[in-house]
Amino acid sequence: MTKPVTHPEPVEPARGSLPLQLRHRPRRLRRTPGIRALVRETRLSPEMFIYPLFVCTGEGQRREVPSMPGVFQLSVDEAVREAEGARAEGISGVLLFGLPDQKDAIGSSAYDAEAPVQTAVRALKREVPGLVVVTDVCLCEYTSHGHCGIVVEDQIVNDASVEQLVRAALSHAAAGADIVAPSDMMDGRVGSIRDALDDAGATEVGIMSYAVKYASAFYGPFRDAAGSTPTFGDRRSHQMDPANVLEAMREVELDIEEGADIVLVKPAITCLDVIARVKAEFGLPTAAYHVSGEYAMLKAAARNGWIDEPRAMLETLTAIRRAGADIIISYYAREAARVLA
Ligand code: PBG
Repeated sequence: MTKPVTHPEPVEPARGSLPLQLRHRPRRLRRTPGIRALVRETRLSPEMFIYPLFVCTGEGQRREVPSMPGVFQLSVDEAVREAEGARAEGISGVLLFGLPDQKDAIGSSAYDAEAPVQTAVRALKREVPGLVVVTDVCLCEYTSHGHCGIVVEDQIVNDASVEQLVRAALSHAAAGADIVAPSDMMDGRVGSIRDALDDAGATEVGIMSYAVKYASAFYGPFRDAAGSTPTFGDRRSHQMDPANVLEAMREVELDIEEGADIVLVKPAITCLDVIARVKAEFGLPTAAYHVSGEYAMLKAAARNGWIDEPRAMLETLTAIRRAGADIIISYYAREAARVLA
């Protein structure tokens, strides 16, 4: 037999009792919105955001990604409109992913000057002054098998893949990209891309390397958006084991040696410790990618009425910033910019 639960008698608040003799009362600084604003340690501003865009062929195309409400596959003209909106809201840059019409085993449309990303770069540089244009450099959106490199006997071969990535980076630079962002996790690609850019006279084009990219379950919705789900196997032979952090430090060190200007950690929310360590140890401009699955989780919960979306969004982005990210890449960039305005 369980005993019935008994509730204690409600205690009358003590009236007229002497205040405790407390020298420190942290609540003093939480008392009013004004005081809280004065002592706030972490601030968010749209300037630190990069907004990812998925660019497809055609005109007037705007196809919502089912697993990412509010995110669209956009033709170049629509991508320009979206980027203009982002710029007007104070967002610094966009990160472009391409949806080519043609895919093949070696991802050759990754370096087609007329493909969606290259066309979008030219249009954005022409039509959205001041916008920082960053391009994703990877083969997974361009290969018929969906892998990030060239596959030989079911293995993703490193060095031949790097040659293809270099071609992609050069074509983005030729189109006018400000920064190329290799996300493939092949070894030595940052150095090879830096050398090739310099040889081509593109010494001003920066490299934001995905130095620490974990093999994560949170990229699922992105693969819907980018049509880049591998047809066999997974990405564990090149993306990192989420259990490792010392290895992350070595990856960052290598990419800096090879010439990375900005280092990126991805995903963000499951890697706040990694972001903090990378920033503290290397001090380089550090970016964090709040990825598709992290966005989709908040969207799904919000749509079910289970969380207050604007608050959850700002709390999430603030946590990424507090961990040490200088740059936040997020599908929420525009929504957050509007809330912050
Ligand atoms: C391409 C790439 C991926 C993401 C960014 N670049 C997908 C992957 O590695 O499968 C994921 C971004 C996101 O989930 O929002 N390699």
